[in-house]
Amino acid sequence: MIGVIGGSGIYRLEGFEVLERLSIRTPFGEPSSDILVAQSEGKKLFFISRHGEGHLYPPHLVPYRANLWAFKELGVKRVFAVSAVGAVNKRFNAGDFVVVDDLIDLTKNRKDTFYEGKFSLPVEGEDKVSRLLKEGKVVHVDASQLYCPHMRGVLIEVLEEMKLPYHTSGTYVCTEGPRFETPAEIKMIERLGGDVVGMTGYPEVVLARELTMCYVSLCLVANPAAGIAGYRLTSEEVINLMKQKEQDVGKVIAQFLKLLPEDRTCGCENILEGAEVS
Ligand code: HPA
Repeated sequence: MIGVIGGSGIYRLEGFEVLERLSIRTPFGEPSSDILVAQSEGKKLFFISRHGEGHLYPPHLVPYRANLWAFKELGVKRVFAVSAVGAVNKRFNAGDFVVVDDLIDLTKNRKDTFYEGKFSLPVEGEDKVSRLLKEGKVVHVDASQLYCPHMRGVLIEVLEEMKLPYHTSGTYVCTEGPRFETPAEIKMIERLGGDVVGMTGYPEVVLARELTMCYVSLCLVANPAAGIAGYRLTSEEVINLMKQKEQDVGKVIAQFLKLLPEDRTCGCENILEGAEVS
C-alpha cells in the first residue's frame, strides 16, 4: 500500500473517506500524528500529517524516523510526500507543482539514518532491515537516484493529464529552518544548482530509501524564495497557497493511485544489496 505524507496546509486528503485511525508506537518514538486509513474509489492508502494535526512539529523536530518506521510496520512500500517549497528557479511560479529529482542537504541537526552500527536501536522483525539493525551493521545506501523513477513518471503523467502547471524535474534544497532563508543563502543555493527550497524533504527521503521504499515528492511552490520575492515571507502566505491547492492535491493523489502499477519493477527495493559493510 502507499503511504502519503501531508506537509504544511495538507492535514487531510480532500476527496478521500477516512475509514480508520491508527495509533502506532515505534522503537523510534511516536509518529507526528495518528495514521489514517483513507479511500477513494475503492483504492486505499495510509495518510500521516508530517507536522501533526494542529501543526505541532516544526521542521527540525518532525519525528521522521518514527513516521517512516510506522509506515514500514503497516507494510507501506511506496511513499508519496507532499511539500510546500519556495522557488529559487525564476521560471517557477507560486502554484506550480515540481516533481523533484535530486536533493542537496543543508540541514544541520537531524537524525538522518536508521543504521547506527553498534549504536542501532533494537527492533523486532525478521526482514533484511531489521536484521541489519539487530546485527549492528554499518550501511551506506546509494543516493544517486533518491526519487523513484517510476513513481515520478506516473506523477508527471497525472499532472499533464489534469493540465496543472508543473515542472518535470528540479533539485530540492533542504534547509534547517524553522526560519526562512536569507537572500544571500538563496543566492548561494541558486549557484549550487538548487531550484526549490524547503525544510522537510531531508532526511525523509533518505530514511524511506533505507527502508527500501520507493519515494516521490510532489512539491508545490508556495512563494518566491527570500530576496526574489522582494517582500517579507510569512507562514500565512505558504499555508494559504497550500489550502487553495488542497483539492488539486487530493485529485492528483486519487488519479495517481489509479495509474500506478501494482508491482514494483523500479529497483528501489534492492537498494540494500551491497550496502552493508561486512
Ligand atoms: N523556504 C523554506 N521552506 C519553505 C519556503 C521557503 O521559502 N516556502 C515554503 N516552504
